[in-house]
Amino acid sequence: MPLRLKPLHPLFVAEASGIDITRPLSDAEVRQINAAMNEYAVLVWRSQPLTGQQQIDFAKSFGPLDLGLKKVFKRKERLEDERLIDISNVDAEGNVARRDSPKNLSNFANQLWHSDSSFQAPRTAYSMLHALVLPSWGGNTEFADLRAAYDALPDRTKAEVQDLRAEHYALHTRILLGDEAYTDDQKKAIPPAVWPLVQTHPGSGRKLLFVGVHARQIIGWPTAESRMYLQDLLEHATQRELVYRHEWQVGDLVMWDNRSTLHRGRRYDIAERRELRRTTIEDVPEARLMAA
Ligand code: OGA
Ligand code: MN
Repeated sequence: MPLRLKPLHPLFVAEASGIDITRPLSDAEVRQINAAMNEYAVLVWRSQPLTGQQQIDFAKSFGPLDLGLKKVFKRKERLEDERLIDISNVDAEGNVARRDSPKNLSNFANQLWHSDSSFQAPRTAYSMLHALVLPSWGGNTEFADLRAAYDALPDRTKAEVQDLRAEHYALHTRILLGDEAYTDDQKKAIPPAVWPLVQTHPGSGRKLLFVGVHARQIIGWPTAESRMYLQDLLEHATQRELVYRHEWQVGDLVMWDNRSTLHRGRRYDIAERRELRRTTIEDVPEARLMAA
């Protein structure tokens, strides 16, 4: 069956159906999904009864899996397969995590506008998030389209950002949230990555504004001026008109392109369980991200 797409926002995001993503994908299906990702940047698949293994297999059809900060911070995990990222407020023993736990710190960091692992090189291409248990209120995830953000820049700013590069640092968000207890060894294990502020999205040929909360410094600029400018650009990129709000249903799998969108989680009652699982693929030459 061919891929069916129903737009969910005037600028990006579509609900996808017609392809069975619980089974191995054909090359033609991978290409169709890539074409849809290039156009919409975020795809929502409803009612997907995916096991962890099926989610890993689906992700692997697009490229090698990224482990994010797990490469650096080894901590006891609830999920056996390290390629599944446990986006939940549940601890390794299966209980709701303590309010002040490291698990919740990561969750709060996810509530800042970001692109997954933009602080590493290579960075990531697609992420896929599957909802298993949802709280009774809140906990939406929002997405912003960085191509639309570039298009909407005033000409003056377009000219100004054209050749600028920004440093993205993993611990920047943690430090913003008051968590500064990192050893020099840990800091050395996560050097920042530098990305141009203006990029061309390979799949769509469209220009985009690559900002996000990990960006802490414009190369060659004074820090205070950098931070204010990056904050202004982030505010621009996440203005209401450019944002899609996803209200989760159990079984949803939402996939997004980290190279052309930002996302953030929204507040919920962390005394209630919220359990999602993420798979993320690396943006490397051997990834299969082409539409043809
Ligand atoms: C993520 C993420 C936000 C959320 O899984 O990468 O940022 O709403 N999640 O859980
Ligand atoms: Mn994320």
